[in-house]
Amino acid sequence: MCGIVGYVGKHKAAPLILEGLKRLEYRGYDSAGIAVWQDGKFAVAKKTGRVANLEPEAAKLRLTGTYGMGHTRWATHGGVTDANAHPHVSSDGKIVLIHNGVIENYASMKKFLLGKGYTFKSETDTEVLCNLIAYHLAKEAEDPDESRFVSAVRKTLRHAEGTYGIVVMCSEMPGELVTARKGSPLILGIGDGESLVASDVAAIVSRTQSVVYLKDGEIAHLTPQRFAITTLTSGEVSPVIDKVTWSISDADLNGHAHFMEKEIFEQPAALENAMRGRFSEDGSTANFGGLNITAGEFRGFDRFQFCACGTALHACMVTEHLMERFARVPVECDYASEFRYRNMPLFRNTLFFVMSQSGETIDTLAAMREAKRKGYKVLAINNVVGSTIAREADGGIYQHVGHEVGVASTKAFTSQLLIGAMLSLYVARLRDMSFSEGVEIVQALKGSPELVRTALQQAEHIKGIAKRYAKYRDMLFLGRLSLYPIALEGALKLKEISYIHAEGYPAAEMKHGPIALVSEECPAVFFVSSGEMFNKVVSSMQEIKARKGKIIAVATADCKLPEGLADEVIPIPECHEAVLPIVATIPVQLLSYYVAVELGRDVDKPRNLAKSVTVE
Ligand code: AGP
Repeated sequence: MCGIVGYVGKHKAAPLILEGLKRLEYRGYDSAGIAVWQDGKFAVAKKTGRVANLEPEAAKLRLTGTYGMGHTRWATHGGVTDANAHPHVSSDGKIVLIHNGVIENYASMKKFLLGKGYTFKSETDTEVLCNLIAYHLAKEAEDPDESRFVSAVRKTLRHAEGTYGIVVMCSEMPGELVTARKGSPLILGIGDGESLVASDVAAIVSRTQSVVYLKDGEIAHLTPQRFAITTLTSGEVSPVIDKVTWSISDADLNGHAHFMEKEIFEQPAALENAMRGRFSEDGSTANFGGLNITAGEFRGFDRFQFCACGTALHACMVTEHLMERFARVPVECDYASEFRYRNMPLFRNTLFFVMSQSGETIDTLAAMREAKRKGYKVLAINNVVGSTIAREADGGIYQHVGHEVGVASTKAFTSQLLIGAMLSLYVARLRDMSFSEGVEIVQALKGSPELVRTALQQAEHIKGIAKRYAKYRDMLFLGRLSLYPIALEGALKLKEISYIHAEGYPAAEMKHGPIALVSEECPAVFFVSSGEMFNKVVSSMQEIKARKGKIIAVATADCKLPEGLADEVIPIPECHEAVLPIVATIPVQLLSYYVAVELGRDVDKPRNLAKSVTVE
């Protein structure tokens, strides 16, 4: 979603800001802008479309200043126009602001400001906030304890309802940035004679690896040499400086055409990283360092509740299946966006899990807060170290797969599947699973990187299929049991990057409606394994075939499909049910990717989508 970069230091700000904005492009946006303090005033350029469209506009301004900010906007209030792009400047020209989030009470603020003579050039809530800061600045008296600039921002935010991550510049205090957050992530970068702020580490990691994760309700005041953090309501807080563990090369393509392709092929290594050091010495169970719950406490829970969004929810659904199967414990999964408002009756001994690659998805965060408010313990499965969800959870499991840039989640998903399987094993071994069954699953999980490598060898074959199938406008994805969520994931992957309409269903459910779509024009992707459901899935395939639907079968190598039933077969290695969902995912990731490439789609920046969804 929207991206933020702010800089104050000794170097020219514009190139650093533009580079930072490019590093945030993966998050999804529809316009971009920059403001730099130049010859005693703010020079501002804003443009719809990509950062590449903004660059020539910025170049015309010959920006040499060392104090500035930039923004990529994903429209919420107001259409995609140059005027609505950020930064916004107050009507008295003194305050410049960039903002992620939504100010819900902006209409009443605007009415108040119009009455005071402030004027507006855009339809945004951000410009209202900007003018309200200018209003408070004008009223603020000098105070020996705090800069007028910080006080004006603080007073304004006390009136703001909704969510925000903001960076503010002020013409009366050039060389100072004020930044604050509530619900939208912000990270301070502490450099050598320079200070930075960004909505994502990716934007600043090329300049510094020393960062401070700002918390909700905090305001930071940055100059090139120092930074101070206070809360909205009270005094100074002592910040914790963290070290970012990944480097800028993690955000480069390394010879791949797209980040999605790079991340698909990184999966064997990503799986190794996700399980490293996480099996017990006797090789019969998994171990996790950060659960903050003892084995005894874990055994005491009667139920598990998972909440997540999108792809992460699909990983929860697979985990539900494995946990119920291995550990015989009831598990529920819910869309985080629904859970937070459903006010669902919950059993007392329930342990909560949230799953989120970014750790910033607003609905997942809100679901977690709701569960905590009711007194439940919440553990987070999350990839981004230091994210809001990771910090607010009672404990959790990091995915450790490195920076995922592609909007379409790939390596994060398969590592979530792996962690879900490991967690199921851990819970099962605390209950009734035997030592030898545990050993068998550990061995299977350890073998998953090699199985994924084998599945990836089908890339050229799948590319050929993609060329033949890219012309279709609708597709069905069908699977059963643990492969049903993989059908959902296959459909989501295809639609998000190729814009082909796709639906995922449990294969048998097809007869209750979706079969009406089946014709020569609507192919179906089936997931087939040789296990207990084989005959039933074959029957569903026959029902499609009888209606002239084309069939792509993602089938384990030991499946003996009736001759001529599938039009295309993508073989995957035979494997244990704990790793089958991981292995079955690879062909549909590749299929979606190659179809999107065939159609000339912007694979890493699909329209209307954002990498982390930080607005409701
Ligand atoms: C993944 O391909 C999607 N773009 C999307 O569904 C994503 O999984 C969802 O927004 C949740 O994100 P999170 O894991 O960062 O919470």
